[in-house]
Amino acid sequence: MQQELSLEKIVEILRSFPPQREHLLKAMHALQNAHPQHYLSELCLIEAAKYFKLTKGQIYGIASYYTMFSLKPRGKYIIRLCKSPVCHAMGSHSLFDYFEKEYGIKPYETTNDGLFTLEASECLGRCGKAPSMMINEHVYTELTIDKIKEIISNLK
Ligand code: FES
Repeated sequence: MQQELSLEKIVEILRSFPPQREHLLKAMHALQNAHPQHYLSELCLIEAAKYFKLTKGQIYGIASYYTMFSLKPRGKYIIRLCKSPVCHAMGSHSLFDYFEKEYGIKPYETTNDGLFTLEASECLGRCGKAPSMMINEHVYTELTIDKIKEIISNLK
């Protein structure tokens, strides 16, 4: 698996945004999404700082302030399982247990094969069909362990 986003690609992504500060967060999202390990690598941050005329300290401050940015490598698939009250009441805690038992991952850990990172998410806005989770950009609802098994096997 490719491990780094190339300098060329980073520059290309950055140049697709005007170099003003109001575009910084969108550009950082684009870099993170394009990175094969779904995080903001050192190279991404250095180039973003240059492009938006920030210091290294400023860009690290921004990247570490927002929980949606990761400064460490994550899996190809980011599983955001909702931990908010409705999903919790509908059994999402047992789904967290399932990921730990079946895949050996607790929230914010990545499987050894680099495929899956589990995260505990706040409400995904699908409480009416709880429990819910997102995998990358897709939302899945009315989850059961069997449904998760099927979803994951379709991803592999
Ligand atoms: S509480 Fe889980 S989607 Fe709203």
